[in-house]
Amino acid sequence: MIRKCIGNPGFRASLLAGGFWFCAATAAWAGGPGGETTARAPAATYGRQAFAQPAANLDRASHRAFAEGSRLFHNDWVEADPTGRQPAGLGPHFAARACAGCHVHDGRGAPGAAGLAVRLALPPGTPQDVVAAYGEQLTPLALAGVAPRGQLRIRWQAVPGRFADGQRYTLRRPVLEPHAPGYGPLPNGTGLSARVAPQLVGLGLLDAVAEEDILANERAQAAQPGPVRGRAGKVFEPFDGREVVGRFGWKASTGSLHHQIASALFHDMGVTSPQFPGQPVQRGQGGQGVQPVVPQPELSRDTFLLMLDYQFGLGVPARRRTETAQVRRGEVLFTQAQCATCHRPAYTTGKGWFPALSRQAIRPYTDLLLHDMGAGLADSHPSGQAGGAEWRTPPLWGVGLIPQVNGHQLLLHDGRARGVLEAILWHGGEADPSRRQVLRMSPGERRALVAFVNSL
Ligand code: HEC
Ligand code: HEC
Repeated sequence: MIRKCIGNPGFRASLLAGGFWFCAATAAWAGGPGGETTARAPAATYGRQAFAQPAANLDRASHRAFAEGSRLFHNDWVEADPTGRQPAGLGPHFAARACAGCHVHDGRGAPGAAGLAVRLALPPGTPQDVVAAYGEQLTPLALAGVAPRGQLRIRWQAVPGRFADGQRYTLRRPVLEPHAPGYGPLPNGTGLSARVAPQLVGLGLLDAVAEEDILANERAQAAQPGPVRGRAGKVFEPFDGREVVGRFGWKASTGSLHHQIASALFHDMGVTSPQFPGQPVQRGQGGQGVQPVVPQPELSRDTFLLMLDYQFGLGVPARRRTETAQVRRGEVLFTQAQCATCHRPAYTTGKGWFPALSRQAIRPYTDLLLHDMGAGLADSHPSGQAGGAEWRTPPLWGVGLIPQVNGHQLLLHDGRARGVLEAILWHGGEADPSRRQVLRMSPGERRALVAFVNSL
Protein backbone atom coordinates (compact mmCIF):
# COMPACT_ATOMS: atom_id res chain seq x y z
CA MET A 1 0.00 0.00 0.00
CA ILE A 2 2.78 2.44 0.92
CA ARG A 3 4.61 1.70 -2.26
CA LYS A 4 1.42 2.31 -4.23
CA CYS A 5 1.03 5.74 -2.63
CA ILE A 6 4.49 6.78 -3.73
CA GLY A 7 4.54 8.38 -7.14
CA ASN A 8 0.89 9.38 -6.87
CA PRO A 9 1.05 13.03 -5.89
CA GLY A 10 -2.61 13.09 -4.97
CA PHE A 11 -1.97 10.67 -2.10
CA ARG A 12 0.33 10.28 0.86
CA ALA A 13 0.99 7.32 3.14
CA SER A 14 0.11 8.12 6.75
CA LEU A 15 0.78 6.01 9.81
CA LEU A 16 -2.29 5.54 11.95
CA ALA A 17 -2.33 4.59 15.61
CA GLY A 18 -1.88 0.83 15.89
CA GLY A 19 0.68 0.74 13.10
CA PHE A 20 -1.75 0.66 10.13
CA TRP A 21 -0.68 2.50 7.03
CA PHE A 22 -3.36 4.55 5.42
CA CYS A 23 -3.20 5.97 1.94
CA ALA A 24 -4.78 9.40 2.23
CA ALA A 25 -5.87 11.77 -0.47
CA THR A 26 -4.05 15.09 -0.32
CA ALA A 27 -5.38 18.41 -1.60
CA ALA A 28 -3.94 17.62 -5.06
CA TRP A 29 -6.65 14.98 -5.43
CA ALA A 30 -9.29 17.67 -6.01
CA GLY A 31 -7.62 18.30 -9.37
CA GLY A 32 -8.09 14.66 -10.46
CA PRO A 33 -9.00 14.08 -14.12
CA GLY A 34 -12.65 13.43 -13.28
CA GLY A 35 -12.98 16.33 -10.84
CA GLU A 36 -14.70 15.18 -7.66
CA THR A 37 -15.72 11.90 -9.31
CA THR A 38 -12.03 10.82 -9.42
CA ALA A 39 -11.33 7.58 -7.54
CA ARG A 40 -9.90 8.39 -4.12
CA ALA A 41 -7.23 5.69 -3.95
CA PRO A 42 -4.33 5.22 -6.35
CA ALA A 43 -5.38 3.23 -9.41
CA ALA A 44 -2.96 0.41 -8.56
CA THR A 45 -4.95 -0.44 -5.43
CA TYR A 46 -7.99 -1.38 -7.58
CA GLY A 47 -6.08 -3.89 -9.71
CA ARG A 48 -8.19 -5.09 -12.63
CA GLN A 49 -11.20 -3.17 -11.29
CA ALA A 50 -9.62 0.26 -11.83
CA PHE A 51 -12.23 1.20 -14.48
CA ALA A 52 -15.17 -0.23 -12.52
CA GLN A 53 -15.21 2.21 -9.61
CA PRO A 54 -18.21 4.43 -8.84
CA ALA A 55 -17.73 8.18 -9.00
CA ALA A 56 -16.24 9.10 -5.63
CA ASN A 57 -18.91 11.71 -4.92
CA LEU A 58 -22.07 9.62 -5.58
CA ASP A 59 -24.79 9.84 -2.95
CA ARG A 60 -26.14 6.76 -1.23
CA ALA A 61 -29.18 6.22 -3.47
CA SER A 62 -27.04 6.52 -6.61
CA HIS A 63 -24.61 4.02 -5.09
CA ARG A 64 -27.38 1.48 -4.67
CA ALA A 65 -28.56 1.95 -8.26
CA PHE A 66 -24.92 1.71 -9.40
CA ALA A 67 -24.53 -1.66 -7.69
CA GLU A 68 -27.75 -2.99 -9.29
CA GLY A 69 -26.70 -1.67 -12.68
CA SER A 70 -23.29 -3.27 -12.29
CA ARG A 71 -24.98 -6.66 -11.90
CA LEU A 72 -26.93 -6.12 -15.15
CA PHE A 73 -23.72 -5.08 -16.89
CA HIS A 74 -21.65 -8.05 -15.76
CA ASN A 75 -24.17 -10.91 -15.65
CA ASP A 76 -24.97 -13.08 -18.63
CA TRP A 77 -28.37 -12.25 -20.11
CA VAL A 78 -30.80 -15.01 -21.03
CA GLU A 79 -33.29 -15.41 -23.82
CA ALA A 80 -36.75 -13.92 -23.16
CA ASP A 81 -38.30 -16.48 -20.90
CA PRO A 82 -41.80 -16.93 -19.49
CA THR A 83 -40.50 -18.12 -16.10
CA GLY A 84 -39.26 -14.61 -15.56
CA ARG A 85 -35.52 -15.26 -15.30
CA GLN A 86 -33.66 -11.96 -15.50
CA PRO A 87 -31.99 -10.13 -17.14
CA ALA A 88 -33.80 -11.45 -20.21
CA GLY A 89 -34.30 -10.63 -23.88
CA LEU A 90 -30.99 -11.80 -25.34
CA GLY A 91 -30.91 -12.54 -29.06
CA PRO A 92 -31.86 -14.01 -31.42
CA HIS A 93 -28.55 -12.56 -32.69
CA PHE A 94 -25.85 -11.31 -30.36
CA ALA A 95 -22.12 -10.73 -30.09
CA ALA A 96 -21.80 -11.49 -26.38
CA ARG A 97 -24.11 -12.56 -23.55
CA ALA A 98 -23.11 -9.66 -21.32
CA CYS A 99 -21.92 -6.10 -21.76
CA ALA A 100 -18.84 -7.15 -19.81
CA GLY A 101 -18.26 -9.92 -22.38
CA CYS A 102 -16.84 -7.16 -24.60
CA HIS A 103 -16.12 -4.36 -22.13
CA VAL A 104 -14.02 -6.77 -20.07
CA HIS A 105 -13.69 -5.28 -16.55
CA ASP A 106 -15.25 -2.14 -18.08
CA GLY A 107 -12.06 -1.97 -20.13
CA ARG A 108 -10.76 -2.35 -23.66
CA GLY A 109 -11.65 -5.12 -26.09
CA ALA A 110 -9.09 -6.71 -28.40
CA PRO A 111 -9.18 -7.97 -31.98
CA GLY A 112 -9.12 -11.75 -32.14
CA ALA A 113 -10.39 -11.95 -28.55
CA ALA A 114 -13.36 -10.64 -26.57
CA GLY A 115 -14.65 -7.20 -27.34
CA LEU A 116 -14.75 -6.70 -31.07
CA ALA A 117 -17.91 -5.56 -32.87
CA VAL A 118 -18.06 -5.87 -36.65
CA ARG A 119 -20.31 -3.26 -38.22
CA LEU A 120 -21.83 -4.01 -41.62
CA ALA A 121 -22.97 -1.55 -44.28
CA LEU A 122 -24.84 -3.38 -47.02
CA PRO A 123 -24.68 -1.60 -50.40
CA PRO A 124 -27.74 0.17 -51.85
CA GLY A 125 -29.94 -2.22 -53.80
CA THR A 126 -29.37 -5.18 -51.44
CA PRO A 127 -32.57 -7.29 -51.45
CA GLN A 128 -34.80 -6.63 -48.43
CA ASP A 129 -34.62 -10.17 -47.07
CA VAL A 130 -30.80 -9.99 -47.01
CA VAL A 131 -30.96 -6.61 -45.24
CA ALA A 132 -33.42 -8.04 -42.72
CA ALA A 133 -31.23 -11.08 -42.11
CA TYR A 134 -27.91 -9.29 -41.61
CA GLY A 135 -28.94 -6.05 -39.94
CA GLU A 136 -26.04 -3.76 -39.10
CA GLN A 137 -23.65 -6.09 -37.36
CA LEU A 138 -21.92 -9.36 -38.23
CA THR A 139 -22.81 -11.00 -34.93
CA PRO A 140 -21.02 -14.33 -34.42
CA LEU A 141 -23.51 -15.85 -31.94
CA ALA A 142 -27.22 -16.73 -31.98
CA LEU A 143 -29.80 -18.56 -29.91
CA ALA A 144 -30.26 -22.30 -30.47
CA GLY A 145 -32.06 -22.92 -33.77
CA VAL A 146 -30.92 -19.64 -35.35
CA ALA A 147 -27.99 -19.36 -37.75
CA PRO A 148 -25.32 -16.87 -36.58
CA ARG A 149 -24.78 -14.09 -39.11
CA GLY A 150 -21.10 -14.85 -39.57
CA GLN A 151 -17.57 -14.78 -38.27
CA LEU A 152 -14.60 -12.54 -38.90
CA ARG A 153 -11.03 -13.54 -39.62
CA ILE A 154 -8.31 -10.93 -39.33
CA ARG A 155 -5.09 -11.15 -41.32
CA TRP A 156 -2.28 -8.78 -40.31
CA GLN A 157 -0.08 -7.02 -42.85
CA ALA A 158 3.26 -5.52 -41.80
CA VAL A 159 3.68 -1.79 -42.49
CA PRO A 160 7.34 -0.73 -42.09
CA GLY A 161 8.52 2.81 -41.33
CA ARG A 162 11.48 4.78 -40.05
CA PHE A 163 12.07 7.61 -37.57
CA ALA A 164 14.12 10.64 -38.65
CA ASP A 165 17.08 9.26 -36.64
CA GLY A 166 17.06 6.16 -38.83
CA GLN A 167 15.52 3.77 -36.30
CA ARG A 168 13.08 1.40 -37.96
CA TYR A 169 9.65 0.32 -36.77
CA THR A 170 6.93 -2.01 -38.05
CA LEU A 171 3.20 -1.36 -37.67
CA ARG A 172 0.49 -3.89 -38.46
CA ARG A 173 -2.65 -3.31 -40.52
CA PRO A 174 -5.70 -5.59 -40.23
CA VAL A 175 -7.29 -7.15 -43.31
CA LEU A 176 -10.87 -8.12 -42.46
CA GLU A 177 -12.20 -11.36 -43.92
CA PRO A 178 -15.80 -12.30 -43.14
CA HIS A 179 -16.47 -16.01 -43.35
CA ALA A 180 -19.22 -18.55 -42.66
CA PRO A 181 -22.03 -16.11 -43.58
CA GLY A 182 -25.27 -17.51 -42.21
CA TYR A 183 -27.70 -15.98 -44.70
CA GLY A 184 -25.99 -16.32 -48.05
CA PRO A 185 -22.93 -14.50 -49.35
CA LEU A 186 -22.48 -10.87 -48.33
CA PRO A 187 -23.13 -8.70 -51.40
CA ASN A 188 -20.12 -7.23 -53.22
CA GLY A 189 -19.37 -3.79 -51.89
CA THR A 190 -20.49 -4.55 -48.32
CA GLY A 191 -18.77 -2.07 -45.99
CA LEU A 192 -17.09 -3.44 -42.87
CA SER A 193 -15.72 -1.83 -39.75
CA ALA A 194 -14.08 -3.69 -36.89
CA ARG A 195 -14.30 -1.75 -33.64
CA VAL A 196 -12.98 -2.67 -30.24
CA ALA A 197 -14.94 -1.92 -27.10
CA PRO A 198 -13.52 1.20 -25.42
CA GLN A 199 -12.87 1.52 -21.69
CA LEU A 200 -15.95 2.95 -19.98
CA VAL A 201 -14.75 5.66 -17.65
CA GLY A 202 -16.16 9.10 -17.01
CA LEU A 203 -18.88 8.75 -19.65
CA GLY A 204 -21.42 10.60 -17.52
CA LEU A 205 -19.00 13.53 -17.46
CA LEU A 206 -18.57 13.49 -21.24
CA ASP A 207 -22.36 13.35 -21.55
CA ALA A 208 -22.50 16.48 -19.38
CA VAL A 209 -20.06 18.51 -21.53
CA ALA A 210 -22.14 21.34 -22.98
CA GLU A 211 -22.83 21.10 -26.69
CA GLU A 212 -21.70 24.72 -26.96
CA ASP A 213 -18.21 23.69 -25.76
CA ILE A 214 -17.93 21.06 -28.51
CA LEU A 215 -19.08 23.58 -31.14
CA ALA A 216 -16.53 26.06 -29.75
CA ASN A 217 -13.78 23.49 -30.44
CA GLU A 218 -14.98 23.31 -34.04
CA ARG A 219 -14.84 27.11 -34.41
CA ALA A 220 -11.45 27.43 -32.72
CA GLN A 221 -9.91 24.84 -35.04
CA ALA A 222 -11.45 26.44 -38.13
CA ALA A 223 -9.93 29.79 -37.14
CA GLN A 224 -6.41 28.34 -36.70
CA PRO A 225 -3.88 27.90 -39.49
CA GLY A 226 -2.99 24.28 -40.29
CA PRO A 227 -4.93 21.20 -41.34
CA VAL A 228 -6.83 20.44 -38.10
CA ARG A 229 -10.51 20.94 -38.93
CA GLY A 230 -12.63 18.95 -36.50
CA ARG A 231 -16.30 18.58 -37.26
CA ALA A 232 -19.20 18.11 -34.89
CA GLY A 233 -21.14 15.16 -36.32
CA LYS A 234 -24.92 15.66 -36.09
CA VAL A 235 -26.99 12.63 -35.14
CA PHE A 236 -30.66 12.01 -34.48
CA GLU A 237 -31.28 11.51 -30.77
CA PRO A 238 -34.28 9.18 -30.35
CA PHE A 239 -34.81 10.09 -26.69
CA ASP A 240 -35.28 13.79 -27.37
CA GLY A 241 -36.53 13.34 -30.93
CA ARG A 242 -34.12 15.98 -32.25
CA GLU A 243 -30.72 16.37 -33.85
CA VAL A 244 -27.78 16.71 -31.46
CA VAL A 245 -23.98 16.64 -31.65
CA GLY A 246 -22.66 13.05 -31.70
CA ARG A 247 -20.17 12.26 -28.97
CA PHE A 248 -20.06 8.50 -28.20
CA GLY A 249 -18.64 5.61 -30.22
CA TRP A 250 -15.50 5.68 -32.41
CA LYS A 251 -17.38 7.70 -35.03
CA ALA A 252 -19.47 9.77 -32.63
CA SER A 253 -22.56 8.04 -33.95
CA THR A 254 -24.68 8.59 -30.82
CA GLY A 255 -25.33 11.86 -29.05
CA SER A 256 -26.18 10.67 -25.55
CA LEU A 257 -25.39 7.86 -23.18
CA HIS A 258 -29.09 6.91 -23.27
CA HIS A 259 -28.93 6.35 -27.01
CA GLN A 260 -25.55 4.58 -26.84
CA ILE A 261 -26.76 2.06 -24.26
CA ALA A 262 -30.08 1.36 -26.00
CA SER A 263 -28.11 0.86 -29.21
CA ALA A 264 -25.61 -1.48 -27.48
CA LEU A 265 -28.47 -3.54 -26.07
CA PHE A 266 -30.07 -3.86 -29.50
CA HIS A 267 -27.09 -4.26 -31.84
CA ASP A 268 -24.66 -6.15 -29.59
CA MET A 269 -27.10 -8.29 -27.58
CA GLY A 270 -30.40 -8.33 -29.48
CA VAL A 271 -32.39 -6.76 -26.62
CA THR A 272 -35.21 -4.49 -27.76
CA SER A 273 -36.24 -1.26 -26.04
CA PRO A 274 -38.81 1.43 -26.88
CA GLN A 275 -36.13 3.26 -28.91
CA PHE A 276 -35.06 0.08 -30.74
CA PRO A 277 -38.29 -1.91 -31.04
CA GLY A 278 -37.55 -4.06 -34.10
CA GLN A 279 -36.53 -7.66 -33.54
CA PRO A 280 -34.30 -8.33 -36.55
CA VAL A 281 -34.80 -12.07 -37.02
CA GLN A 282 -37.03 -14.48 -35.19
CA ARG A 283 -36.12 -17.94 -33.98
CA GLY A 284 -36.05 -20.55 -36.71
CA GLN A 285 -37.08 -18.10 -39.40
CA GLY A 286 -33.73 -17.61 -41.15
CA GLY A 287 -34.15 -13.95 -41.99
CA GLN A 288 -37.82 -13.87 -42.92
CA GLY A 289 -39.51 -11.02 -41.11
CA VAL A 290 -42.24 -12.48 -38.87
CA GLN A 291 -44.16 -11.18 -35.91
CA PRO A 292 -42.19 -11.14 -32.67
CA VAL A 293 -42.79 -14.21 -30.49
CA VAL A 294 -41.94 -12.41 -27.24
CA PRO A 295 -43.63 -9.34 -25.82
CA GLN A 296 -41.97 -6.18 -27.09
CA PRO A 297 -40.03 -4.26 -26.04
CA GLU A 298 -38.04 -6.77 -24.00
CA LEU A 299 -36.46 -4.22 -21.72
CA SER A 300 -38.45 -2.67 -18.92
CA ARG A 301 -37.98 1.01 -18.18
CA ASP A 302 -36.69 0.25 -14.68
CA THR A 303 -34.04 -2.14 -15.93
CA PHE A 304 -32.94 0.38 -18.53
CA LEU A 305 -32.66 3.12 -15.89
CA LEU A 306 -30.44 0.90 -13.73
CA MET A 307 -28.17 0.28 -16.70
CA LEU A 308 -27.97 4.04 -17.22
CA ASP A 309 -27.22 4.63 -13.54
CA TYR A 310 -24.26 2.30 -13.80
CA GLN A 311 -22.75 3.87 -16.93
CA PHE A 312 -23.35 7.41 -15.70
CA GLY A 313 -21.94 6.55 -12.30
CA LEU A 314 -18.57 5.18 -13.44
CA GLY A 315 -15.85 7.48 -12.10
CA VAL A 316 -12.41 8.28 -13.48
CA PRO A 317 -9.19 6.74 -12.14
CA ALA A 318 -6.57 9.04 -10.60
CA ARG A 319 -3.48 9.90 -12.64
CA ARG A 320 -0.24 8.04 -12.03
CA ARG A 321 3.38 9.21 -11.74
CA THR A 322 2.49 12.78 -12.67
CA GLU A 323 5.39 14.45 -10.92
CA THR A 324 8.32 12.79 -12.63
CA ALA A 325 10.61 14.94 -14.81
CA GLN A 326 9.94 12.60 -17.75
CA VAL A 327 6.17 13.02 -17.55
CA ARG A 328 6.48 16.80 -17.22
CA ARG A 329 8.72 16.88 -20.27
CA GLY A 330 6.22 14.68 -22.12
CA GLU A 331 3.45 17.15 -21.36
CA VAL A 332 5.43 19.97 -22.99
CA LEU A 333 6.06 17.79 -26.06
CA PHE A 334 2.36 16.88 -26.20
CA THR A 335 1.49 20.55 -26.55
CA GLN A 336 4.33 21.28 -28.97
CA ALA A 337 3.27 18.44 -31.28
CA GLN A 338 -0.29 19.88 -31.42
CA CYS A 339 -1.73 16.79 -29.77
CA ALA A 340 -3.73 19.03 -27.44
CA THR A 341 -5.58 20.67 -30.34
CA CYS A 342 -7.64 17.51 -30.80
CA HIS A 343 -7.00 15.85 -27.45
CA ARG A 344 -8.27 18.99 -25.65
CA PRO A 345 -7.28 18.67 -22.01
CA ALA A 346 -9.92 20.47 -19.95
CA TYR A 347 -13.64 21.29 -19.59
CA THR A 348 -16.08 22.26 -16.91
CA THR A 349 -19.17 20.12 -17.28
CA GLY A 350 -22.67 21.56 -17.59
CA LYS A 351 -25.71 19.92 -16.08
CA GLY A 352 -25.23 16.19 -15.50
CA TRP A 353 -27.62 13.26 -15.17
CA PHE A 354 -26.66 13.17 -11.49
CA PRO A 355 -25.88 16.34 -9.54
CA ALA A 356 -22.48 14.69 -8.85
CA LEU A 357 -21.59 15.08 -12.52
CA SER A 358 -22.49 18.77 -12.85
CA ARG A 359 -20.00 21.64 -12.81
CA GLN A 360 -16.98 19.35 -12.57
CA ALA A 361 -13.54 20.46 -13.73
CA ILE A 362 -12.48 17.49 -15.84
CA ARG A 363 -9.45 16.58 -17.99
CA PRO A 364 -10.54 13.99 -20.58
CA TYR A 365 -8.16 15.00 -23.46
CA THR A 366 -10.68 15.03 -26.30
CA ASP A 367 -12.48 17.65 -28.41
CA LEU A 368 -15.30 15.14 -29.12
CA LEU A 369 -15.03 16.12 -32.80
CA LEU A 370 -14.67 14.02 -35.94
CA HIS A 371 -11.36 14.29 -37.81
CA ASP A 372 -10.14 13.02 -41.15
CA MET A 373 -7.34 10.74 -39.97
CA GLY A 374 -6.16 9.73 -43.44
CA ALA A 375 -6.44 6.67 -45.68
CA GLY A 376 -4.33 4.46 -43.38
CA LEU A 377 -7.03 4.40 -40.69
CA ALA A 378 -10.07 4.57 -43.00
CA ASP A 379 -12.69 1.82 -43.03
CA SER A 380 -15.31 1.13 -45.66
CA HIS A 381 -18.20 1.91 -43.34
CA PRO A 382 -19.42 5.48 -43.16
CA SER A 383 -21.56 5.84 -39.99
CA GLY A 384 -24.14 8.59 -39.86
CA GLN A 385 -22.38 11.69 -41.12
CA ALA A 386 -18.88 10.34 -40.52
CA GLY A 387 -17.03 9.19 -43.63
CA GLY A 388 -14.67 6.19 -43.75
CA ALA A 389 -11.57 8.22 -42.76
CA GLU A 390 -13.29 10.20 -40.01
CA TRP A 391 -12.93 9.24 -36.36
CA ARG A 392 -13.88 10.99 -33.15
CA THR A 393 -10.92 11.99 -30.96
CA PRO A 394 -11.01 9.42 -28.16
CA PRO A 395 -10.49 10.64 -24.58
CA LEU A 396 -7.03 9.68 -23.30
CA TRP A 397 -7.89 9.36 -19.60
CA GLY A 398 -7.27 5.82 -18.45
CA VAL A 399 -5.37 4.73 -21.59
CA GLY A 400 -2.28 4.00 -19.47
CA LEU A 401 -4.29 1.69 -17.20
CA ILE A 402 -5.51 -0.63 -19.97
CA PRO A 403 -2.53 -3.00 -19.42
CA GLN A 404 -3.38 -3.24 -15.69
CA VAL A 405 -7.06 -3.92 -16.38
CA ASN A 406 -6.96 -5.93 -19.61
CA GLY A 407 -3.42 -7.29 -19.85
CA HIS A 408 -2.78 -5.59 -23.21
CA GLN A 409 -2.59 -2.10 -24.65
CA LEU A 410 -4.08 -2.55 -28.10
CA LEU A 411 -5.22 0.91 -29.16
CA LEU A 412 -7.16 2.69 -31.94
CA HIS A 413 -10.62 1.78 -33.18
CA ASP A 414 -9.65 -1.71 -34.32
CA GLY A 415 -6.92 -2.47 -31.78
CA ARG A 416 -4.17 -2.50 -34.41
CA ALA A 417 -1.73 -0.35 -32.39
CA ARG A 418 0.43 -2.21 -29.87
CA GLY A 419 0.87 0.68 -27.47
CA VAL A 420 0.79 4.48 -27.46
CA LEU A 421 3.69 5.07 -29.85
CA GLU A 422 2.19 2.86 -32.58
CA ALA A 423 -1.15 4.64 -32.12
CA ILE A 424 0.59 7.98 -32.78
CA LEU A 425 2.44 6.60 -35.81
CA TRP A 426 -0.92 5.72 -37.41
CA HIS A 427 -2.12 9.35 -37.13
CA GLY A 428 -2.51 10.76 -40.67
CA GLY A 429 -4.79 13.23 -42.43
CA GLU A 430 -5.41 16.22 -40.20
CA ALA A 431 -3.00 14.77 -37.62
CA ASP A 432 -0.15 14.18 -40.07
CA PRO A 433 1.94 17.19 -38.87
CA SER A 434 1.75 15.80 -35.31
CA ARG A 435 3.00 12.42 -36.47
CA ARG A 436 5.85 14.08 -38.42
CA GLN A 437 6.94 15.93 -35.30
CA VAL A 438 7.06 12.66 -33.39
CA LEU A 439 9.14 11.09 -36.18
CA ARG A 440 11.69 13.89 -35.64
CA MET A 441 11.84 13.46 -31.85
CA SER A 442 14.80 11.80 -30.13
CA PRO A 443 14.17 8.38 -28.54
CA GLY A 444 14.16 10.07 -25.10
CA GLU A 445 11.55 12.59 -26.22
CA ARG A 446 9.35 9.83 -27.63
CA ARG A 447 9.59 7.93 -24.36
CA ALA A 448 8.66 11.09 -22.44
CA LEU A 449 5.62 11.72 -24.69
CA VAL A 450 4.46 8.13 -24.20
CA ALA A 451 5.05 8.33 -20.43
CA PHE A 452 2.88 11.45 -20.29
CA VAL A 453 -0.01 9.82 -22.21
CA ASN A 454 0.27 6.75 -19.97
CA SER A 455 0.03 8.95 -16.86
CA LEU A 456 -3.38 10.38 -17.83
C1 HEC B 1 -19.79 -7.01 -29.18
C2 HEC B 1 -19.12 -6.40 -28.10
C3 HEC B 1 -19.90 -5.38 -27.26
C4 HEC B 1 -20.94 -5.63 -26.39
C5 HEC B 1 -21.61 -6.95 -26.07
C6 HEC B 1 -21.27 -4.34 -25.80
N1 HEC B 1 -20.47 -3.37 -26.30
FE1 HEC B 1 -20.48 -1.40 -25.77
N2 HEC B 1 -19.18 -1.00 -27.25
C7 HEC B 1 -18.61 -1.93 -28.09
C8 HEC B 1 -17.93 -1.24 -29.16
C9 HEC B 1 -17.19 -1.90 -30.31
C10 HEC B 1 -18.11 0.15 -28.95
C11 HEC B 1 -17.69 1.29 -29.88
C12 HEC B 1 -18.92 1.47 -30.76
C13 HEC B 1 -18.76 2.27 -32.02
O1 HEC B 1 -17.69 2.71 -32.35
O2 HEC B 1 -19.77 2.45 -32.68
C14 HEC B 1 -18.90 0.26 -27.72
C15 HEC B 1 -19.27 1.47 -27.14
C16 HEC B 1 -19.96 1.59 -25.96
C17 HEC B 1 -20.17 2.82 -25.25
C18 HEC B 1 -19.66 4.19 -25.67
C19 HEC B 1 -18.26 4.40 -25.17
C20 HEC B 1 -17.57 5.60 -25.70
O3 HEC B 1 -16.50 5.93 -25.15
O4 HEC B 1 -18.02 6.24 -26.65
C21 HEC B 1 -20.94 2.52 -24.15
C22 HEC B 1 -21.44 3.46 -23.11
C23 HEC B 1 -21.21 1.10 -24.20
N3 HEC B 1 -20.57 0.55 -25.30
C24 HEC B 1 -21.97 0.41 -23.27
C25 HEC B 1 -22.36 -0.92 -23.45
C26 HEC B 1 -23.38 -1.57 -22.65
C27 HEC B 1 -24.16 -0.93 -21.53
C28 HEC B 1 -23.48 -2.85 -23.11
C29 HEC B 1 -24.45 -3.93 -22.68
C30 HEC B 1 -25.82 -3.62 -22.92
C31 HEC B 1 -22.51 -2.99 -24.19
N4 HEC B 1 -21.85 -1.80 -24.36
C32 HEC B 1 -22.30 -4.16 -24.88
C33 HEC B 1 -18.67 -3.29 -27.96
C34 HEC B 1 -19.62 -3.95 -27.20
C1 HEC C 1 -6.38 15.85 -35.81
C2 HEC C 1 -6.72 15.43 -34.47
C3 HEC C 1 -5.69 14.66 -33.67
C4 HEC C 1 -4.40 15.03 -33.36
C5 HEC C 1 -3.65 16.29 -33.77
C6 HEC C 1 -3.87 13.96 -32.54
N1 HEC C 1 -4.81 12.99 -32.36
FE1 HEC C 1 -4.58 11.30 -31.31
N2 HEC C 1 -6.32 10.58 -32.04
C7 HEC C 1 -7.20 11.30 -32.84
C8 HEC C 1 -8.24 10.41 -33.30
C9 HEC C 1 -9.41 10.81 -34.18
C10 HEC C 1 -7.94 9.13 -32.80
C11 HEC C 1 -8.72 7.82 -33.05
C12 HEC C 1 -8.26 7.21 -34.35
C13 HEC C 1 -8.69 5.76 -34.56
O1 HEC C 1 -9.06 5.09 -33.60
O2 HEC C 1 -8.65 5.29 -35.70
C14 HEC C 1 -6.75 9.29 -31.98
C15 HEC C 1 -6.19 8.27 -31.22
C16 HEC C 1 -5.12 8.45 -30.34
C17 HEC C 1 -4.63 7.46 -29.41
C18 HEC C 1 -5.25 6.09 -29.17
C19 HEC C 1 -6.37 6.24 -28.17
C20 HEC C 1 -7.20 5.00 -27.93
O3 HEC C 1 -8.06 5.09 -27.05
O4 HEC C 1 -7.05 3.97 -28.60
C21 HEC C 1 -3.57 8.02 -28.74
C22 HEC C 1 -2.75 7.37 -27.65
C23 HEC C 1 -3.38 9.34 -29.29
N3 HEC C 1 -4.36 9.57 -30.24
C24 HEC C 1 -2.38 10.22 -28.90
C25 HEC C 1 -2.06 11.38 -29.63
C26 HEC C 1 -0.83 12.12 -29.46
C27 HEC C 1 0.25 11.82 -28.44
C28 HEC C 1 -0.86 13.14 -30.38
C29 HEC C 1 0.22 14.14 -30.69
C30 HEC C 1 1.49 13.57 -31.16
C31 HEC C 1 -2.13 13.05 -31.08
N4 HEC C 1 -2.81 11.95 -30.61
C32 HEC C 1 -2.57 13.94 -32.03
C33 HEC C 1 -7.10 12.63 -33.15
C34 HEC C 1 -5.93 13.37 -33.05
